[in-house]
Amino acid sequence: MIQDECLEIHGPCRLDGRVHLEGAKNAALPGLVVSLLADEPLTLENVPDVLDIHNLLAILRSLGLEYEPYPAGVTIYPATRLSSEPSSELVQRIRASFMVLGPLCARTGYARGAYPGGCAIGQRPVDQHLNGLSALGMDVTLHDHRVELKAGNLHGAKIRFDIVTVTGTEHLMMTAALIPDTTILENCAREPEVVQLAEMLTSMGAEIQGAGTERIVIRGRKQLAGGRFYIIPDRIEAGTYIIATLATRGRVCLHPVRRDHMGALIESLEMFQPRLSWENSQTLIVDATQCDSGFPHEIRTEPFPGFPTDLQAQWMVLQTQIIGVSTIEETVFPERFRHALELVRLGAEITVSPPRATVKGKTPLKGAKVKATDLRASACLVVAGLVAEGTTLIQGVEHLDRGYVALDTKLQSLGAVIHRKVADVMPSRLAVVG
Ligand code: EPZ
Repeated sequence: MIQDECLEIHGPCRLDGRVHLEGAKNAALPGLVVSLLADEPLTLENVPDVLDIHNLLAILRSLGLEYEPYPAGVTIYPATRLSSEPSSELVQRIRASFMVLGPLCARTGYARGAYPGGCAIGQRPVDQHLNGLSALGMDVTLHDHRVELKAGNLHGAKIRFDIVTVTGTEHLMMTAALIPDTTILENCAREPEVVQLAEMLTSMGAEIQGAGTERIVIRGRKQLAGGRFYIIPDRIEAGTYIIATLATRGRVCLHPVRRDHMGALIESLEMFQPRLSWENSQTLIVDATQCDSGFPHEIRTEPFPGFPTDLQAQWMVLQTQIIGVSTIEETVFPERFRHALELVRLGAEITVSPPRATVKGKTPLKGAKVKATDLRASACLVVAGLVAEGTTLIQGVEHLDRGYVALDTKLQSLGAVIHRKVADVMPSRLAVVG
């Protein structure tokens, strides 16, 4: 047996109160990478205090950048001498770090980094990143699980993604921002995090039009300034709390939440008829105390503004409590269903045949020992523990800490009976890449 930090939840419960939401992890990560491009200090405010952020800061420090804490954020100073190879051990911990390679190569003429592996949610190739970097004039070679980039004559290009990719769009946009030419990206990701990155790069001196649409035009510059930026609220954290409120028939006030970032989730909630009231553009009250039980339906995940894949696992818990057969079609990460096996341990009736899962409800959930396999799967199991009758013990809390700030204490403040504890668990191989 080994000791592992776990979450213990006693359910069922009903969430009630106010919750403060953090800055978006998936906006702060590319925001940190952009510091590689700046010739001046770059300050990010409203950065979430989560493991992925600390891991990326460690990578930037391994490259020679110094940083210091800033109230609820960080200031990063340009390096006097930039290394061209981030630590492989650190890169393997966080996929988003792959984005440092293009800016590093554009800055220093060379970059080499570990090829990010697959993870619990799927294979997650990087061919779109590499094809784009090659189109910008980089010589791309792969050997012994490493990607090597050499800057030939860097130039603008017209690049069309074969598949919508968030960090692929971000990676090429920030690399092109340092190339004094015009680059056109087509079939781009339209996520709010991509839009914020474009706003940052524009404020630093690049010219970027079209972010938030499928076509982005970048006019880069050889030198970019620094600046100070406030990270947008985390729409996936917000969605997780909204789903937990619905699942427990609670009443929760969330702030800050960007109404324009929540589209498809709010539309999907309509089947439960919760009372949603926007106190102002960033304060949402979700009152699910008189909610309908919902009706069988299909959720199809899609790139923004569609239903977010990062809320699919949490939504599956709601489907277990609906009478009838509901389905999920996962079009972004077709294999992203490992959480289903753990929900079955709690009593759910789910069959998975990628890219679809079929959920039969209503099935009473009973507390049990379960294991988190990735960041959003761990959030799903927490929501399930709030609904289940009895005690649920969730192993693999380190996944949760990668992307949620103090989820347990925030839920405690909303009335949940949830505690961290060290427990004896069966050893398991934990792949910490996501
Ligand atoms: C980003 O990952 C997010 N991470 C993920 O959030 C999110 O689930 C995902 O976008 C989809 O919204 C960050 O922003 C740091 P993709 P990313 O490239 O960019 C395929 C979380 O929980 N693809 O948009 O890695 C890929 O396999 C994380 O916060 C290629 O085929 O995802 C997938 O099927 C998990 N070739 C699809 O595109 C490539 O070169 C979308 O992936 C790149 C991607």
